[in-house]
Amino acid sequence: MLNKKVEEAINKQIVAELYSAYLYFAMAAYFEAENLNGMGQWMKAQAFEEMYHAMKFYDYVNERGGRVVFLGIDKPPEKWDSPLATFTAAYDHEVKVTGMINDLVDIARSENDKATESFLNWYVDEQVEEESNADEIVNKLKLMAGAPGGLFMLDEKLGQRTYVWPGVGTEGE
Ligand code: FEO
Repeated sequence: MLNKKVEEAINKQIVAELYSAYLYFAMAAYFEAENLNGMGQWMKAQAFEEMYHAMKFYDYVNERGGRVVFLGIDKPPEKWDSPLATFTAAYDHEVKVTGMINDLVDIARSENDKATESFLNWYVDEQVEEESNADEIVNKLKLMAGAPGGLFMLDEKLGQRTYVWPGVGTEGE
């Protein structure tokens, strides 16, 4: 049985992950409106990954006999000043999410919920990658400042990103 305090904290994190998806879909829409379809594709793939993060929590709560409750999702911004500003906002968002995951680990520890603590390790590792992916693009954009050719090449490269849904709903079967 899932500890109530932990259950409540995970339900809040499900919303945070879904907000992340919402934010990245909004960034995708902004890029596509700016004819940067490769960056739009990258953001859409990222948004689907965030939905996976949310549903992995969903499955975990159910597996532990808890109750998933969907709370409200805030409206994300509609536009950003530039690709650099957008990816910087994505990086800052990931740093914030890392803090949320760390807070969740603290709650699991304080409730002596070792199973949740172990489950959260996947997210702790994932956040290292999430921050690093966004940071790498921020640095590339900074390096190519003022060179439109570089921007279009990067757009094309980022457009190669795809995301394969890793089979949520099959865990524990
Ligand atoms: Fe779900 Fe980008 O962290």
